[in-house]
Amino acid sequence: MSVPYIGILVDGLIYSGIKHGVPYFERIHFYEAACKKHHLIPCYFRLKDLNIETGQVNGLVKGNNGKYELKDLQIPAVIHNRGLFFNNSSKEKLKRLQRSGVMIFNDWNRYGKLMVHQILNRDEDLSRHLPETRKASLENLKEMMEKHNELIIKPNSGSLGGGVILIKRIDNEQWTVTSHQQRWPFTDKLPDILQKKASSKYYIIQQRIPLAKSEGSPFDLRVSVQKNGTGEWQVTGIVGKVAKKGSYVTNVAQGGTCRPLWEIVGGIPELDYDMIYKQIEEFSLQAVKELESHFPSLADVGLDIGLTEDGFPMFIECNGRDLRITFGKAKMMDVWKATYTTPISYARYLLDSKGKGE
Ligand SMILES: Nc1ncnc2c1ncn2[C@@H]1O[C@H](COP(=O)(O)OP(=O)(O)O)[C@@H](O)[C@H]1O
Ligand SMILES: [Mg+2]
Repeated sequence: MSVPYIGILVDGLIYSGIKHGVPYFERIHFYEAACKKHHLIPCYFRLKDLNIETGQVNGLVKGNNGKYELKDLQIPAVIHNRGLFFNNSSKEKLKRLQRSGVMIFNDWNRYGKLMVHQILNRDEDLSRHLPETRKASLENLKEMMEKHNELIIKPNSGSLGGGVILIKRIDNEQWTVTSHQQRWPFTDKLPDILQKKASSKYYIIQQRIPLAKSEGSPFDLRVSVQKNGTGEWQVTGIVGKVAKKGSYVTNVAQGGTCRPLWEIVGGIPELDYDMIYKQIEEFSLQAVKELESHFPSLADVGLDIGLTEDGFPMFIECNGRDLRITFGKAKMMDVWKATYTTPISYARYLLDSKGKGE
């Protein structure tokens, strides 16, 4: 009985990392261990390595000497997508592969924040967890400034925390806009940076969630929500991201630090860990199911969720390709590993349920 291959579709940087034995983001040995457990062999390739006409792929497979070698194989029946694809020809290629019977999960992993908001907002239970969000326009900015004392303006599509600005009311007339460490006061005339972002179609305006603080700095959470070995959604782990002193964004790329949720919550007497965990879990599972009804192959996301000062979970964004590194940075080794193992368990489930496993 031969051991089936499982495809891991990656982009150029990660691919060259595997080829040359340098880990760029992905922890390949976690995939290897998970595959061994499930009696599978991982094979790593880029989109351009797949030949739909011949049904073959030229991919990297670990050889007996522990080094990765290129091999020509039949395209695996199940592929876990870890690449980001922007152009239409790549998306079309993924669709053609799916039409040919290959199961690719998480194929669609780049979505606009506004679209995700609109999908979740249709459900009444979920909508309680959403900050008010609008497309950027000067008119919407004016309306949002009438309704809220703090606003966030940010790119509609991923930014690693770059390009996020904060607007804050000081008194009846005075406001400030903050970008990174710089601040501009204003009354009627908008500072250039605000004028530009608020009128750009690539930005959204959002009510700022009054995030709970850890030792004076706001924090939010990365919640890994994945499909598991029984084909069901689960919360694989939750990690806190604490903003750098004086910052309003928590991203690691902007100097944020990662800590386990229990550790952060343990330092805040008003917050109850078990209750918070349960509420986040409930919200996250309901949210991914709603998203899945629009994006059928969804199976692995990283949600950014904020907590208000009294511990109520508020949705910030959905990352379609969570780099998972936050768990490593918080030294949550078991959870970090599980974020790699769970998608492989799901791949095994897909293989077995379609009768293609051996
Ligand atoms: N509505 C909001 N309220 C409070 N903080 C926010 C809000 N939106 C974004 N942030 C902060 O900015 C960070 C980056 O925003 P996010 O929507 O996650 O975009 P990205 O990570 O793609 O840059 C968040 O992790 C959070 O710390
Ligand atoms: Mg984010």
